[in-house]
Amino acid sequence: MDMNKKEEYNSAIINTIEITKTYRLGEREEVRALKGVSLKIQRGEFVAIMGPSGSGKSTLMNILGCLDTPTSGKYFLENIDVSKLNDNQLAEIRNKKVGFVFQTFNLLPRLDAFHNVGLPLIYSREGSKNDKKERILSSLEAVGLKGLEKHRPNELSGGERQRVAIARALVNDPSIILADEPTGNLDSRSGEEIMAIFQKLNRQGRTILLVTHELEIAKHTQKIIYLRDGIIHNFEKIKNPIDAEQKLKEMPRLENKMIENKIKQAKSV
Ligand SMILES: Nc1ncnc2c1ncn2[C@@H]1O[C@H](COP(=O)(O)OP(=O)(O)O)[C@@H](O)[C@H]1O
Ligand SMILES: [Mg+2]
Repeated sequence: MDMNKKEEYNSAIINTIEITKTYRLGEREEVRALKGVSLKIQRGEFVAIMGPSGSGKSTLMNILGCLDTPTSGKYFLENIDVSKLNDNQLAEIRNKKVGFVFQTFNLLPRLDAFHNVGLPLIYSREGSKNDKKERILSSLEAVGLKGLEKHRPNELSGGERQRVAIARALVNDPSIILADEPTGNLDSRSGEEIMAIFQKLNRQGRTILLVTHELEIAKHTQKIIYLRDGIIHNFEKIKNPIDAEQKLKEMPRLENKMIENKIKQAKSV
C-alpha cells in the first residue's frame, strides 16, 4: 500500500464505504433510509450533517454510533470493521469509543448530575472508584457545571441539562462525540452556549459530529455534509466558522437593542 494512502486511512476515525440502510415494514413495504453513503471523518474534525426531515440523518448517526448496523456496505471505526460485529461486541465498542448527545438530553430524572454523568462508567472495569469520581468531576468541570453535582435534572435549566449530557458523553474519554440535534430544544442563547462548549472541546482535540437542520448552528463547525433522500449530495468547507464565545458576547447587546426598539415603538404611538 502507498504510504500516503495508508496514513490517510489510519487517521480517519470514521470511514464508511457505500453504506445502506433499509427498514422493512412488513412483507412488501420497505424504506431505503440510506442509499450508499461514503464518508470519512478525520481525527480532530468538527463536522455538521444537515438535511431535511427524513433524509436519513438519525439513521446515519445510529450506525456511526454503533447503535445499529448497516444493511450493506462497510463501516470502519478507528480501523475496526464494525459492520460485522454482533450486539455484544457492538455494545462494547460503543461504550469505549462513542459519546452521545441527544436533542432530548436523555437524562435519568431520579439521578443527580453526578450520577447521570457516571452512568457510562457503571459497567467499566477500568479504574478505581476514586478514579471514576475524578473523571466525573472533571467532565462536569469541562462543561462549566462545577458545583451543580447534586442537582437533579428538574432543578436545572435546559441548557444545563444538555451540558450534563455532554459531560456524560465525555466521561469515557471517547474517540468521537456524536450529537443529534443537540440545540433543537434550546433557546438561542442556551444553544449558543452549547456550541461554545463543543468548540472548546474541539480545540482541545475532540472529534465531533453534529446533526442539525439549522444552518446558523452548522456554521459553527468546519465542514457541512448535506444529506438528502439517503445520499450525500454536497460538502461545504466553512472558511470562517462562527465563534460562539464571540457571539455570546454580542448577544446581550442584541437583546438590549431589541428592548430599545420596543421602547422607541411604544413612544412613537
Ligand atoms: N426504525 C425505523 N423503521 C422504519 N422506518 C424508519 C425507522 N427509522 C427511520 N425510518 C425512516 O427512514 C427515513 C429516514 O429517517 P431518519 O434517519 O430518522 O431521518 P432524519 O433524522 O433525517 O429526519 C424516514 O423515511 C423514516 O421514516
Ligand atoms: Mg432525526
